[in-house]
Amino acid sequence: MNFELSEEHLMIQQAARDFANAELLPGVCERDEKAIFPMAQIRKMGELGFMGMMVSPEYGGGGMDTISYVLAMEEISKVDASASVVMSVNNSLVCWGLETFASEEQKQKYLVPLAQGKYHGAFCLSEPEAGSDATSQRTTAIDQGDHYLMNGTKNWITNGSTGDVYIVIAQSHVEAGHRGINAFIVEKNWPGITVGKKEDKMGIRGSDTHSIMFQDVKVPKENRIGEDGFGFKFAMKTLAGGRIGIASQALGIASGAYERAVAYSKERKAFGKEIMHHQAIQFKLADMATEIEAARLLCLKAAWLKDQKKDYALASSMAKVFASETAMRTTTEAVQVHGGYGYVREYHVERMMRDAKITQIYEGTSEVNRIVISREILK
Ligand code: CAA
Repeated sequence: MNFELSEEHLMIQQAARDFANAELLPGVCERDEKAIFPMAQIRKMGELGFMGMMVSPEYGGGGMDTISYVLAMEEISKVDASASVVMSVNNSLVCWGLETFASEEQKQKYLVPLAQGKYHGAFCLSEPEAGSDATSQRTTAIDQGDHYLMNGTKNWITNGSTGDVYIVIAQSHVEAGHRGINAFIVEKNWPGITVGKKEDKMGIRGSDTHSIMFQDVKVPKENRIGEDGFGFKFAMKTLAGGRIGIASQALGIASGAYERAVAYSKERKAFGKEIMHHQAIQFKLADMATEIEAARLLCLKAAWLKDQKKDYALASSMAKVFASETAMRTTTEAVQVHGGYGYVREYHVERMMRDAKITQIYEGTSEVNRIVISREILK
C-alpha cells in the first residue's frame, strides 16, 4: 500500500488549484448572488482538459485516471462548487457513460465535443414523481419504427439550459418496469423540447437547474444507448461513478471551508490572543481536519477501485455519504469559527454552507446511498 501521490497527480492537483484561484475565485461571490452561470470559466476548463478528464485521448479526452479526477474536483470545489458540479456532471454522468456504453458513431458525434469541452451535457433522470424512486419513470419513449417518440417532464436538471446534449432516461415498455427503460442521447435544440424555468436555489447558485419538457420529440433509433431495456442499469452504473464526483465536490467544499477557518483563527483576536490559541477553536479545527482526511481517503479508495476495474458501487456510496455529511458539519463549524463574519457573504463560508447541503441530496440522497450500502453489506 502506498499513500503517496505520483508526480503526475501532484501536477494535476496544482494545475486545478492554480486555475481555481486565478479564474474562479475573482467572481465567485457575484455569480452566487446573481445566479450567473460561469460559462467563460467552463469553456476554459474545457480547454485545459477538466471537462473530459478520464476520456481516452482517442475521443478528445485527457486520458487521466479517476484519482486525478478526485484531486481536480477537490481543488475546483474548494473555490466554486457551482463550476465543479458542471464539471462533475459532464465528466462522470455524461462522458463516462458514453465512452463505456455508446456506439462508435455516437462517440464520434457526441463524446468528442463533450470531452473537449466544446459542448457540455446534462443527465436527465429525475422527474416530478421519480426522484429517489428512479425506477418509476413516467417519461416515455415509444418505438415508432425508425425513431422513438418521447413525452414527459424531467426535473432538477443540472446544465438544463446551458447544456448542448442530454442523456435522457425514459420508459419504452411500461409493462416491463425498470427492464423496459432506455437511455437516449438527445440534442437540446430538437423540436418539442422546452426548457422550463430556472430554479432559484439555496446553494450552487451559479449552476443552472431547470425542468425540461419533452413533447412528441422524435429521437432517432441510433441515439438509443446500448440494447433495448438497458437504460436503468446504464443509469445505476453511471451514478455509481457520479457519486465519486459528488463526494469529491463535498470534500472540496469541506476543505475550502476548513482552510478559511484555519486562516481566520490565526488572524482574529479575542480575549487577548488569536482565537487559534483557544481550545474551543482548536478542537473544532481538529475535528474538521480529521473528518476531511477520512472523507479524502474514502474518495481516493473509491477512485482507486474504479481505476483497478474492481467493483466500486459500495465504496462510492460510502464516500458520498461521509463526504457530504462532512461538508455540512465542516461548513457549519467554519461559520461558527468566523462568528458574525461567518454569517455575511464576503467571508465565503456562508456560501460554502449553502453549497454543502445539495451534496447530501443530488446523485442519490444520503438515505438512498445508505440503501445501496446496506444492500451491499448484507448480501
Ligand atoms: N449497477 C448495475 N445494476 C444495478 C445497480 C448498479 N450499481 N444498482 C441497481 N442495479 C439494477 C439491479 O440489479 C436491478 O436489476 P434486476 O432487477 O435486473 O436485477 C435494477 O437495477 C433495479 O434495482 P433495485 O431493485 O435495487 O431498484 P430499487 O427500486 O429498489 O432502487 C435505488 C434502487 C438504489 C433506490 C435507485 O432507484 C437509486 O439509485 N435512486 C436514486 C436515483 C439518483 O441517484 N438520482 C440522482 C439524479 S441524477 C443527479 O442528481 C445529477 C445532477 O444533476 C447532479
